[in-house]
Amino acid sequence: MPDRNRRRNERHLECDRCGRSVVLESANFNIVSSDRDSPELCCPVCNDDPRPSHFSSHSIAIRFNGAWTPTMAFLSGAFPDGVAPVTTSRDRVTLRILIGLANLEYAGHFNYGSPENLGAGIDHAKIAWQAGSAVGYSRWSLASVRSGTHPTLRQVFVRTEFRRRGNGGKLILDFFATTGSGPKLVEYPNDASCRLLERLGFVERTSMGWKSCSDQLIGFLPPGE
Ligand SMILES: CC(C)(COP(=O)(O)OP(=O)(O)OC[C@H]1O[C@@H](n2cnc3c(N)ncnc32)[C@H](O)[C@@H]1OP(=O)(O)O)[C@@H](O)C(=O)NCCC(=O)NCCS
Ligand SMILES: [Zn+2]
Repeated sequence: MPDRNRRRNERHLECDRCGRSVVLESANFNIVSSDRDSPELCCPVCNDDPRPSHFSSHSIAIRFNGAWTPTMAFLSGAFPDGVAPVTTSRDRVTLRILIGLANLEYAGHFNYGSPENLGAGIDHAKIAWQAGSAVGYSRWSLASVRSGTHPTLRQVFVRTEFRRRGNGGKLILDFFATTGSGPKLVEYPNDASCRLLERLGFVERTSMGWKSCSDQLIGFLPPGE
């Protein structure tokens, strides 16, 4: 009897939102295309966005190094406070979850994408850690405009519960500090990011809208270029 129970437990994991036992079978997996080795187990009842490559609104666990690990475990770790590059495969899972949280916040209005290009060195990402929690991320890549090819900040995201504690600012300053001395671009900043860029001394508000006031920032890039 105990053996049978154990076997049964190994084939289910409990959803901590609705309490259901979710069977470890592919119908309940969400697979990000570049990451076939680490499927994510989602609760089919709580998950209201089951599109492939979209983070579920209720991810239970991710298979990593041969074991099912609770999804939230990837958002904590013994990292010093500050901004760290995404280097290990665990970092990539952490980034994938953070991107999923960003996509969820925008509820399909905007897609922050998946970390597919990371391995190819096209896209660079950093994770912000604070008191042992992965609190947000930034991504940048090169973009070509008339004046040349420049490092371009594509996304900055901080988890809701960690906002307004300096984490967004740290991610932005890290981008400017670590991408060389030439001019940079920022892709399509929204009002909150413009206010933050203003606070950091990169932009100012004019009657025509936001404008760069720093040699380090040559302008804004329309989305998707
Ligand atoms: C924008 C964002 C990255 C800021 O992160 P953060 O950790 O809160 O930023 P910081 O704590 O370093 O800086 C806070 C400052 O940013 C500005 N700011 C941040 N959120 C703001 C908001 N909702 N409205 C107005 N200003 C805002 C303000 O200047 C604020 O200073 P204040 O708290 O004294 O008013 C975060 O709110 C976020 O992830 N938002 C959702 C994703 C997003 O919009 N990303 C940007 C486009 S890709
Ligand atoms: Zn559930």
